[in-house]
Amino acid sequence: MNTPRLALPQDFVWGVATSSYQIEGAARAGGKGQGNWDVFAERPGAIHDEHRGDFGADHYARLEEDLDLIAGLGVRAYRFSVSWPRVVPEARGAVSESGLGFYDRLVDGLLARGITPYLTLFHWDAPQAFEQLGGFRNPDAPAWFAEYATIVARRLGDRVKHFFTLNEPHAFIEGGLRHGRHAPGLKLPLREVLLAAHHALLAHGASVEVVRAEVKASWVAMAPVLVCGIPASDSAEDLEAARRYTFGPLGDTLRTTAFFCDPVFGRGYPAEFLSVFGKDMPPVPASDLDRIAQPLDAFGANLYDAPLVRAGREGRPEVVPYEAGYPRTAFDWPVTPDAHYFGVKFAYERYNKPIMITENGLSCRDWVHTDGRVPDGERIDFLVRHLTALERAATAGIPLLGYFHWSLLDNFEWNHGYRERFGLVHVDFASGTRTPKDSYGVYRRIIEEHERSPN
Ligand code: FCB
Repeated sequence: MNTPRLALPQDFVWGVATSSYQIEGAARAGGKGQGNWDVFAERPGAIHDEHRGDFGADHYARLEEDLDLIAGLGVRAYRFSVSWPRVVPEARGAVSESGLGFYDRLVDGLLARGITPYLTLFHWDAPQAFEQLGGFRNPDAPAWFAEYATIVARRLGDRVKHFFTLNEPHAFIEGGLRHGRHAPGLKLPLREVLLAAHHALLAHGASVEVVRAEVKASWVAMAPVLVCGIPASDSAEDLEAARRYTFGPLGDTLRTTAFFCDPVFGRGYPAEFLSVFGKDMPPVPASDLDRIAQPLDAFGANLYDAPLVRAGREGRPEVVPYEAGYPRTAFDWPVTPDAHYFGVKFAYERYNKPIMITENGLSCRDWVHTDGRVPDGERIDFLVRHLTALERAATAGIPLLGYFHWSLLDNFEWNHGYRERFGLVHVDFASGTRTPKDSYGVYRRIIEEHERSPN
């Protein structure tokens, strides 16, 4: 195929993303503490086909091979997360030297290959000891999280400058504590869920303070999901309805953009949400909001798909179903590149921060063909379409910092187990063998092309 030449900023950061629990395996290696997902995965029925995360993609054992795969992709940046239970096995107190040593090797290996590390402090794998203390429901959770962040920042902050605090807070709060689909698998009343959400935001703020204090020339952001709407037509009314959808309450779910991002960017909890949640919201003193609203360097956006939205009665946003036969990924997510124009535009207008796409990708039904290749044409087309939509946003003057493709490797997709393959590199989950898919080569060529003649 022809590789598109994309008019993206000259210093655009090309990257690829993973998370600790999804790829590392080595569930007990080097004194790693028991994690919340280790425990959750033991629960019958919790994970697709009773899969276990203790293999992941066997990354812990294959670190050097994976570093070479990252380098071979030509990316300039690698987003990974640190496993809290690997570093502080009991959540507080004793630190595992062996756990920290693993991240030393990872960071040194990246730097030796000219790749900038982007470190996520929390991508959902907490020590089980933390959950036993009530997890984020416990008012001391922000302090424990800050203690963990201090350990990571002190150890790696001489080499790692780029940090993300929390990955998708709605997922571990609502998915983990309200719907029970994620670890720790609880179904708590809304009041407790909202209290945990507030503490998670305080943990975010506290960890930003830690990174600022410990790391010279730090760069810090969060990586929330950017829930957004795509206008169903060119009309001004539909555009406004899509914008309202992007920042409004969507029933009483926490899977929204504004609930977590408004406080983080200094706007407090939005009034419409407070009226939806009413008495279930915890009291929020102004000092808490100050603590949460630490200055950040970017709006990080995990951005996958979005619905079409039109203006209904009184301009109220209404979701319009995609037509029959509309393109969908293996996960059954609609393929919606326009989210990378409209979502990014809306987020920039509201938060006025440069945008970093911290995750985007898709799962396909990939396998190794008889000729040894993994011809994942759908991923290639998806990649090109989404990058082209980002180009449109950049051309419209929205500051775009970079793009991290999810994911480097096929991996453990949470409660869906190993069923969903998101990697640019195929992983045989029995042997651990890696096979770069066709998309791996295309992504490399897109990057090369852009770096050869950036706009
Ligand atoms: C995101 C998660 C990531 C992965 C992708 C597919 O919501 O942050 O870990 O599960 O979805």
